[in-house]
Amino acid sequence: MNALLKQVRSIQSGALASIEQCSDLESLRTLEVKLLGRKGEVTRALHGLKDLPEDERRLAGQVLNELKKSVEEALARRRSGLEAAAMEASLSGGRLDPTEPSARRPLGHEHPVQAIVRELCDLFESMGFTVIDGPEVESEYFNFEALNIPSWHPARDMQDTFWVAGRRAVMRTHTSGMQIRAMRRYGAPLRVVAPGRVFRYEAQDASHEHTFHQLEGLVVDEGIAVSHLKGTLEAMLRGLFKNRVVTRLRPFYFPFVEPGLELDFGCLLCEQKGCPACKGTGWIELCGCGMVHPRVLEAASVDPEKYTGFAFGMGIDRLAMMRHAVTDIRYFMSGDLRFLEQF
Ligand code: DAH
Repeated sequence: MNALLKQVRSIQSGALASIEQCSDLESLRTLEVKLLGRKGEVTRALHGLKDLPEDERRLAGQVLNELKKSVEEALARRRSGLEAAAMEASLSGGRLDPTEPSARRPLGHEHPVQAIVRELCDLFESMGFTVIDGPEVESEYFNFEALNIPSWHPARDMQDTFWVAGRRAVMRTHTSGMQIRAMRRYGAPLRVVAPGRVFRYEAQDASHEHTFHQLEGLVVDEGIAVSHLKGTLEAMLRGLFKNRVVTRLRPFYFPFVEPGLELDFGCLLCEQKGCPACKGTGWIELCGCGMVHPRVLEAASVDPEKYTGFAFGMGIDRLAMMRHAVTDIRYFMSGDLRFLEQF
């Protein structure tokens, strides 16, 4: 019995020491087999029980089982220690990916121009309009010809154009081409608005940018008149500025409307007394508009004998400039966070 106790103590101290010294999971596994495997030291000692006299077996059994338990526990403790160390090494070592986005990514917010587009779309939807979207690279036909602007027409010079090399296509100079697309697709009657980016080959300054935003509107039905145009745009302005707004129409020339008009609204900053925002006139230009030209209806296969319509196209960036008292249109597309974070 004494000999057994001595043997157990020596197995135990040897085993615990080598477990402690194990520096990786692989050698820990090898050691486990050496101790607890079928021919392992501990296993062999347990097998030796049967050679002991009856009266010693009980006690010896207890001692050996405790040995086995203490070795198992030491192995488990060392294993979880090594696993934690391996995990830490893989996180801080060579496997770290520095291009991975960090967990705390700064969140952006709506662009001030986009905020107005969204508000306008909501307002028009509440008046029964459908919001539609279209291509920024547009065919020459939709951008010009179908809108009664043939290639020889001097009105082409009103809009400086980015042409797409080798194709009869342009970066759309306005959203008016969407009038044709909408009528061809949905027929008459219809009410649509089409917001989007437009592009002009333009000398840039504080109020001219090569890329800006417009919102096109089109209503076609039986008996549509200029009064519907005026009423619709007044309702829109009231919704946008949360205020009653006066408007006036001036004659203007656009090839795709007859009569062609421009709509101004009374300056809200000075209550029409005259200020820098309205250049002392009391009025601010909102948009080009008019009654859809019969040739435009025909180009979209809508019968001009049966239907009439009004259309308008307004610049969004200038509305955003007015709302936030921004003095240079070029800030909007600059992507400069020092500007954008102010909204
Ligand atoms: N497309 C014109 C422009 O960019 C604006 C415009 C004028 C749109 C009259 C219209 C309209 O729908 O009827 O200058």
